[in-house]
Amino acid sequence: MDIEKVIQGRTYIDGELRYAEIGISEGRIVTVGRLVSGGDERVDIGSSKIILPGFMDPHVHLRDPGMTAKEDFGTGTMAAVHAGVTCVLDMPNTRPPVTDVETLMDKKSAIRRRANVDYGLFAAVTSGINAGMLAPLVPGFKLFMGSTTGNILLNEDEEMIPSVRDVLATGKRMSVHAEDDHLISKEAEHCTRDHLRNRPAEAEWNAIRRLAGSFKGSRINICHITTPEGLDMAKAAGFTTEVTLHHLMFEVDRNTTAEYKVNPPIRDLDNRDRLFSRFIKGDVDMIGTDHAPHTAEEKASEFDAAPGGIPGLETTMPMIMEMVRAGRLPIQAAVRMASENPAANFGIRKGRIAPGYDADLQIYDMRITSEIDVRRLHSKCGHSPYGGYAAVFPETVMVRGEVQVEDGEFCGEPLGRDVCG
Ligand code: DOR
Ligand code: ZN
Ligand code: ZN
Repeated sequence: MDIEKVIQGRTYIDGELRYAEIGISEGRIVTVGRLVSGGDERVDIGSSKIILPGFMDPHVHLRDPGMTAKEDFGTGTMAAVHAGVTCVLDMPNTRPPVTDVETLMDKKSAIRRRANVDYGLFAAVTSGINAGMLAPLVPGFKLFMGSTTGNILLNEDEEMIPSVRDVLATGKRMSVHAEDDHLISKEAEHCTRDHLRNRPAEAEWNAIRRLAGSFKGSRINICHITTPEGLDMAKAAGFTTEVTLHHLMFEVDRNTTAEYKVNPPIRDLDNRDRLFSRFIKGDVDMIGTDHAPHTAEEKASEFDAAPGGIPGLETTMPMIMEMVRAGRLPIQAAVRMASENPAANFGIRKGRIAPGYDADLQIYDMRITSEIDVRRLHSKCGHSPYGGYAAVFPETVMVRGEVQVEDGEFCGEPLGRDVCG
């Protein structure tokens, strides 16, 4: 096969950074080695930079269609690509919710040719779901056991268990918002501590316990794990696990306002610190941003009325890369949790720099750190709790060999494709 393009420099391959030349053809990596000849175009990144596989975010809410005042597929994927995220998996709580093939196909045509990175669209697990028809069209399914934005709760065993059985029989992975709605209280709230009182850790534990009781060892992914105990239960059941940055960063006594209102809730300092050490130790499978944009006006309303959700698509991975730069997190852990595992767990040919994988590549100068400036972020929601935090952004980002970001600025076009056609 003719090699169209060769990128050369210090490259992340099988857990190590070493000099390599990457041959690309038709958007795919075709060869990786010390010497790759040919290529109409050759790019030498120089000795001070590194090449990583693009990141894949297994959990975003881009609000398109139906809530595009908060975000749309163009703005959401613009935020993604500036963070080195070359593929996003979008949740089904859009309007109307993605519960059947017709709605899914409508959503696919609504966003076609508007994405700046590749994407997959989840379908929601509902009672009476036609899982067999949906499965070839989605990277996975999403089950909501606790109420949150969008009304697609499925938490009663009589309905949930047969639907989940049908979904898992397709072989696709099912991501779960694991908070048992029976243990969630709806009392009035004035701050994140009240929100935490209404959504106790037991809700997370009971949801995982119930899934483990019926579906141990199945292809289930527990989203936004908030407690070390929940993490242990999920791992013991053979489920994969996902963690957000906000549950690793924030705690109820310092982060009290509706900006930090999110489901599941942020918890107390001791819990946060214990979760963070498990994360650093490498006990979590994936980082998912759970990017949940709501407008600044909505988040500024009274606590009880404000919607739950924190935006994080453009800030999470740059802050993780700052942890890598500062020596707090091994680079192997970052690449495993943000590239290799999300792609492998959802069966997508990305996340590694190896022949046969999509040429989603990003280039970093790990000496350059900057402060997050909320005004410069690309999400339509216009707010972020991460202003002023240190971050390392990628200099160059490629999606299937096409340069989308150069010198940290978007220079591409909306070439994003659905990973499930
Ligand atoms: O806080 C949340 N916001 N949790 C969810 O599960 C959904 C999300 C949203 O879509 O706003
Ligand atoms: Zn959730
Ligand atoms: Zn979510």
